[in-house]
Amino acid sequence: MTTTFPPELISFLRASSRVAVLTGAGVSQESGLRTFRDAQVGIWAQYKPEDLATPEAFERNPRLVWDFYSTRREGAGGAEPNTGHFALVEMEKHFDQFTLITQNIDGLHQRVGSRSLVELHGNLRRIRCSRGCGVIDEWEELPEVVPACPHCGALLRPDVVWFGENLPEDGLNAAIQAANTCQAFFSVGTSGLVQPAASLAFWAKKRGAVLVEVNYEPTPLTEYVDYAFHGKSGDILPDLVRVLGDAK
Ligand code: APR
Repeated sequence: MTTTFPPELISFLRASSRVAVLTGAGVSQESGLRTFRDAQVGIWAQYKPEDLATPEAFERNPRLVWDFYSTRREGAGGAEPNTGHFALVEMEKHFDQFTLITQNIDGLHQRVGSRSLVELHGNLRRIRCSRGCGVIDEWEELPEVVPACPHCGALLRPDVVWFGENLPEDGLNAAIQAANTCQAFFSVGTSGLVQPAASLAFWAKKRGAVLVEVNYEPTPLTEYVDYAFHGKSGDILPDLVRVLGDAK
């Protein structure tokens, strides 16, 4: 069953040049990667976040945290991008200024060639010095034992944002800039619960952008959006890009 889009949304998008998209774990769900909060199967359902994704957890038990991210890294490495990821690459071609902001660390948007990509929460492929001496690297294989920084000797850690940590400044600024200047803001596959990513849609709306939600189910954002499409992003996004292409 294909998605039907209100004609006024399609004509608005056809006349727009600046679009921002925020994605969350839902966009990678059809690639077989678990989301964080979906009940029962979500990653956090099995672990207490404070036991794994915080600087304190890494301090307390670096090997446990390292193993957790190694497992996720293997999962992401073995996952194939889905039709939603590819549709976002196509979508980018329809707008002069298109910014894809992702909360995902699985690297799938990067792998399919999304160009104007902002990785708000980092990327599993990269690791960096935990003391912040600036060493950052992409490792094909992660060693069993948590390696030490070749420069300062501190432990290396995944280059991802943990609970309680600040987001990379340049990424956050780029995301805020895109939210503040876009004509349409899409929230795709995210529960919209984690700040500051969850505020981007509201900042866009405040600046007059049209808000569109593409998510499997309603979220706290749903009541504020102009258009909500509830279903699989891997179905809805390709339908949208097809209609946009037809309209050209
Ligand atoms: N298509 C569209 N949406 C989907 C699909 C799908 N196939 N499958 C699941 N979803 C939706 C779920 O309904 C849920 O609302 O995706 C959303 C995923 O929400 P979360 O699991 O909360 O993931 P996310 O919003 O990305 O979490 C944000 O929280 O834990 C931190 O840093 C972590 O980046 C993460 C952030």
